[in-house]
Amino acid sequence: MTTQRPDKPPNSAAREKKPVALENRDDMADGRLFSPSAARNREVIRDVWLKEGVTSGRVLEIGSGTGEHAMAIMKACPDLEWIASDLDPASRASVAAWAQYEGVEDRLVGPLALDASTPPGSWGVEPGLSALYCANMIHISPWVAGRGVIAGAGALLKPGGRLFFYGPFSRDGVHISQSNADFDVSLKSRDPSWGVRDLERDVVPVAGTAGLELKAVHQMPANNLVMVFEK
Ligand SMILES: C[S@@+](CC[C@H](N)C(=O)[O-])C[C@H]1O[C@@H](n2cnc3c(N)ncnc32)[C@H](O)[C@@H]1O
Repeated sequence: MTTQRPDKPPNSAAREKKPVALENRDDMADGRLFSPSAARNREVIRDVWLKEGVTSGRVLEIGSGTGEHAMAIMKACPDLEWIASDLDPASRASVAAWAQYEGVEDRLVGPLALDASTPPGSWGVEPGLSALYCANMIHISPWVAGRGVIAGAGALLKPGGRLFFYGPFSRDGVHISQSNADFDVSLKSRDPSWGVRDLERDVVPVAGTAGLELKAVHQMPANNLVMVFEK
């Protein structure tokens, strides 16, 4: 089956969107949502994932969104079990619909209604994960949610397990592009608790307290990063 986005999904703009993503997500009658940014970045993220070599075991994704990242990685890694999750019901329905469409529903757990700002012990996820994956979420949620993702990785990853973050990040107090700086201002004007997080000043110190060490930083298109931590 193909994941090509059709020219004009039949159900576009058929329902009011909740502001869970800063883009319009077209939708299909079966519940699949289409994220323009995921269409641009899912293959490059999948390639980094493959380079990092997490190809078996259980993965928890937090803030799965449409589910298109999960599909790209699951299809490339047939031995992965993927626990999807999101706060947003339409996003959870989309992940489930995508999994059916792609024929990987037997390896999908959930999607869980997981709020990253709650304690990991309440998430209903067994420890021993190979990886925790979180893309484009911790800049459009309060930092307590970002800290929650990291605490979840500390609590739920097996030794040697990896935490992957994808998105825009600054480095040691400096934005890596003017567009990221502008984006940070616009995020904070929407909600002062949002904002581009800093790898060295925000993420690494909290990760250290959770027993996670920074292993790799991958420069991605459009001034995004993938950062990989290991427990
Ligand atoms: C910008 S979207 C990114 C979706 C997807 N990861 C991607 O990159 O295409 C952010 C997602 O995070 C979810 N989200 C926001 N705050 C959350 C929280 N505290 N816990 C779990 N999910 C959250 C939203 O519902 C939304 O689907």
